[in-house]
Amino acid sequence: MTNFQTSAAGKIILFGEHAVVYGVPAIAIPISSLRAYATIRKTDKPLKIIAEDLRNQDIVLTVDTQNQDNPLTQMVNSVLDHFNLACPQIEITVKSDIPIASGLGSGAAVSAAVGKAIVHALGRAISTEDLNQLVFEVEKVHHGTPSGIDNTVVVYERPVYFVKDKEIRFLNIKSPFHIVVADTGKTALTHEAVGDVRRLYESDQNSVQSIFGNIERIVQDVITCMDTGDISQMGKLMNENHTYLQQLTVSSPELDSLVDAARQAGALGAKLSGGGRGGNMIALVDESSVSRVTSALKETGATRVFDSIVK
Ligand code: PMV
Repeated sequence: MTNFQTSAAGKIILFGEHAVVYGVPAIAIPISSLRAYATIRKTDKPLKIIAEDLRNQDIVLTVDTQNQDNPLTQMVNSVLDHFNLACPQIEITVKSDIPIASGLGSGAAVSAAVGKAIVHALGRAISTEDLNQLVFEVEKVHHGTPSGIDNTVVVYERPVYFVKDKEIRFLNIKSPFHIVVADTGKTALTHEAVGDVRRLYESDQNSVQSIFGNIERIVQDVITCMDTGDISQMGKLMNENHTYLQQLTVSSPELDSLVDAARQAGALGAKLSGGGRGGNMIALVDESSVSRVTSALKETGATRVFDSIVK
């Protein structure tokens, strides 16, 4: 076997994060230009995983009992268990363009790429559905109560209308639109933000339920906007969704100032995306405003800005 490379895309949640954990629908898209890669090379030694650019440090792992709590080795072990096969003698090198802990699906994408690599090394094939389930199991260990949206959009690499524990609905975007994505440069742990929303929910169920109800209505309205191509209304809904995320306490001063900067530079709407508290925000823009919004976000301190056409 010569070297073989697999990959998986990053993702952006457009609407409905956090509420999705409680059964509210959410909309997410893959970002195919941002990817995690796993390259396999045959060796004559026990499996080794080299992940040099994750968590800013070199990680060299072997699949043994000492590494049971690492998501990479867990992914390998889940695939081996799935096929009931022994570990192949290979080296897997993991690389990723997706910043970690930034709401862009790095964890799920790395797991998916590693999963596909092991499947290939075993000479087997796996259905997308099964791979999705295996990545979800790994997400559960590391994120507590994930809704499953990250693994779903990353593994299927298609825009989704996602409702927890329900059949996946893929979206056909009839009128493509542009988004600009900007990174605060601050990492944040999704499970902490999810835990804080849980505590808020437990302390004041009525208020938080009403926020979730509003987010649900926003997501349904966005689907209508997508069908009719009403991008300017979608922008207003994006602004509204951001307000509810602020009320859920998952925004941050950095996210808020990027959101404000994007709006002032002419974005149709802007909001945080993903777990929040740091990580990335998104702005919905007309094609003609992409460069103005991009410059404004950089001037306001974004560490990385890119744009993407949602189609
Ligand atoms: O992984 P992130 O940071 O993109 O956030 C996931 C989205 C949440 O709704 C906050 C959590 C979840 O499991 O759906």
